[in-house]
Amino acid sequence: MAGGSNKNWILMVTARSPTNIAVIKYWGKRDETLILPINDSISVTLDPEHLCTTTTVAVSPKFEEDRMWLNKKEISLSGGRFQSCLREIRSRGTDFEDEEKGIFIKKEDWKKLHVHIDSFNNFPTAAGLASSAAGFACLVYSLAKLMNVKEDEGQLSAIARQGSGSACRSLYGGFVKWSMGNDANGSDSIAVQLATEAHWDELVIIIAVVSSRQKETSSTTGMRESVETSPLLHYRSKEVVPKRILQMEEAIRTRDFPSFAKLTCADSNQFHATCLDTSPPIFYMNDTSHRQVFCMEKWNRSEGTPQVAYTFDAGPNAVLIAKNRKVATQLLQRLLFYFPPSADTELDSYLIGDKSILKDAGIGTMEDVEALAPPPEIKDNIPSQKYAGDVSYFICTRPGRGPVVLGDEALALLHPETGLPK
Ligand code: DP6
Repeated sequence: MAGGSNKNWILMVTARSPTNIAVIKYWGKRDETLILPINDSISVTLDPEHLCTTTTVAVSPKFEEDRMWLNKKEISLSGGRFQSCLREIRSRGTDFEDEEKGIFIKKEDWKKLHVHIDSFNNFPTAAGLASSAAGFACLVYSLAKLMNVKEDEGQLSAIARQGSGSACRSLYGGFVKWSMGNDANGSDSIAVQLATEAHWDELVIIIAVVSSRQKETSSTTGMRESVETSPLLHYRSKEVVPKRILQMEEAIRTRDFPSFAKLTCADSNQFHATCLDTSPPIFYMNDTSHRQVFCMEKWNRSEGTPQVAYTFDAGPNAVLIAKNRKVATQLLQRLLFYFPPSADTELDSYLIGDKSILKDAGIGTMEDVEALAPPPEIKDNIPSQKYAGDVSYFICTRPGRGPVVLGDEALALLHPETGLPK
């Protein structure tokens, strides 16, 4: 039996996983339970320094049931997606022993031992940023480390996929492709790394967290309705995405920003077009999102070649990818010009993440924001309109690394003696 006569031990692992933003979108499943998509997708992993999930998982003979806490609140693990991830990882556990602590676990014991899981996001959940991708990637990665699972990231990605499709792409850093696969059992529907974050480290990513009053349709429901009703989605998955995937792989390989940007914007726009083509139509972008597209298109056009790519997931937030840091400072100046903070917002809380970009853009105070000149591309269309308060805040980040184990026990979210949240 697990642990021999000593029943007091707790075995624990803490890990941190990134979120990701798709530049060729996943939208639509061919199998709802296994979460198998109707097309390949490609994403950029975002730096976990700014956006990540931290998860501590623990097993102990004294735990009486599987339990989970998310952002300090206990949540149910009874859902099919959690159960799939737990079952798949448990079945791949291998023998483990720590003689010093008197812990001996046989591979078949993992199915009998209960787990405690505590998970927390370093970004506000209210922001509507895809937290399920980082969350399920972290859950699967940390459980795999805990249960001494020997499988590689690719095989773990096929398990994370069963928690949430986009989560499979968060098992790697940098630039990642989720291959849709052919097998009915999903064994070849896995993520592969196209390039590490170091391959293209000039890129700067600014996320505009857009204020929204409307409750959005979840991705899961939205894509089901699109699969059932949108002819455009089926045309997209068969005729458009396969070509774009090849072009995007090449653009990433050669760090060809103009191609990368054109493909990213076109694919985001087509994804939102399939939402409009759904019956009843789904609206994820709002007026602020549309204004941001307009500003970026206008700027890119005036420069003659794309400076910035934009992409939107199942919500109104814009994810803007700038060619390099210099362009990112110009982007930030434009964003702050058009979308200044509302009167009661401090500049310090209006841009989070890599705040050093503010200094590079020559902005230290609210007076600097007010003094920003209109971007040259709109000079003829005066007076240019401003939209104070339409953006809640900006996050400045960059492409980042994949999941890691946090060795420092002080970072564990569960108490080492009780196995309950600290
Ligand atoms: C628009 O992965 O959240 O962000 O698989 O049902 O959990 P489920 O959906 P989810 O969908 C993400 C959709 C998207 C595009 C993308 O990330 O590729």
